[in-house]
Amino acid sequence: MKYFIITGTSRGIGEAIAEQLISSEHFLFCISRERNEKLLNKSKNIEYHDFDLQYIDQIEDLLNRIFDAIDISSAEGVYLINNASMISPVSFINNAMVKDITGNINVNLIAPIIFTSLFIARTENYQIEKRIINISSASAKNHHPGMSLYSAAKAGLDVFSQCVGLEQNHSKAPVGIVSIWPGMIDTNLQREARNQDKATFPSADIFEMVKENGMLTSPEETAKQIIDCLFKKDFKNGEVVDIYDYSKVQKHFEAPSEARRARSSSETGDN
Ligand SMILES: NC(=O)c1ccc[n+]([C@@H]2O[C@H](COP(=O)([O-])OP(=O)(O)OC[C@H]3O[C@@H](n4cnc5c(N)ncnc54)[C@H](OP(=O)(O)O)[C@@H]3O)[C@@H](O)[C@H]2O)c1
Repeated sequence: MKYFIITGTSRGIGEAIAEQLISSEHFLFCISRERNEKLLNKSKNIEYHDFDLQYIDQIEDLLNRIFDAIDISSAEGVYLINNASMISPVSFINNAMVKDITGNINVNLIAPIIFTSLFIARTENYQIEKRIINISSASAKNHHPGMSLYSAAKAGLDVFSQCVGLEQNHSKAPVGIVSIWPGMIDTNLQREARNQDKATFPSADIFEMVKENGMLTSPEETAKQIIDCLFKKDFKNGEVVDIYDYSKVQKHFEAPSEARRARSSSETGDN
């Protein structure tokens, strides 16, 4: 049996990952605030934990309960996918409430760090396949005014994955760990970004533009790419992996030049 601990499975990418991992040889531990009944109805091999990741002091207890249900000595592999995330508060930092600042950093950075730490500690004596994927974002590098917390948390998550990757090179039974930039995906998170008030979040226009111009990937396609990464033979331990298909963006920026070419050829009479 392979065991998967996945956060943020109530919708979006996390739900699609969980759906695609359903198998009689897989057991899934799913975590989000809202229970995903649709997912639960699809398999008996799912244990659901409705849990708010903002409560970071309760994560150890949650993980202990999960690991107590796993017979690691007979497991074929154990996998952790830190996927849950929130972009709010989307605001200039001087307008953010302190409780929202801590909430964002707890869910986006501290929770995955604690999950990673406990996962490595609970599995360190086992020579089985052990892998962690931290779902990060290109927002770690591409910055927008109003998204400082999200970007800072994702940049922190990338550095954390890289450092833990180095640490694991010193382990006798290393855990593989990578950060993944999944690209731009048609989920609630994108909707939240493009629906922000443009007066307080000027980049809302950009999020609207990527939706309108077909640059978003589906959660299903993204989940497939993430799962491919998870099982890859040459797992890129300690790396930050960008899986977005940039041809979606190129197509958009090439389109005007095509139009320009067509215009100039009609002006010159060329075909
Ligand atoms: N969509 C994109 O374009 C995009 C781009 C780059 C990176 N990403 C990354 O991809 C991952 C998945 O995002 P998504 O687009 O699928 O977002 P989404 O549709 O908004 O889903 C977010 C998931 O995280 C869970 N979550 C949020 N706050 C939580 C909390 N306090 N406790 C427990 N679970 C919580 C949500 O469940 P509940 O609300 O039920 O708790 C939900 O299942 C995130 O790490 C995100 O940063 C997405």
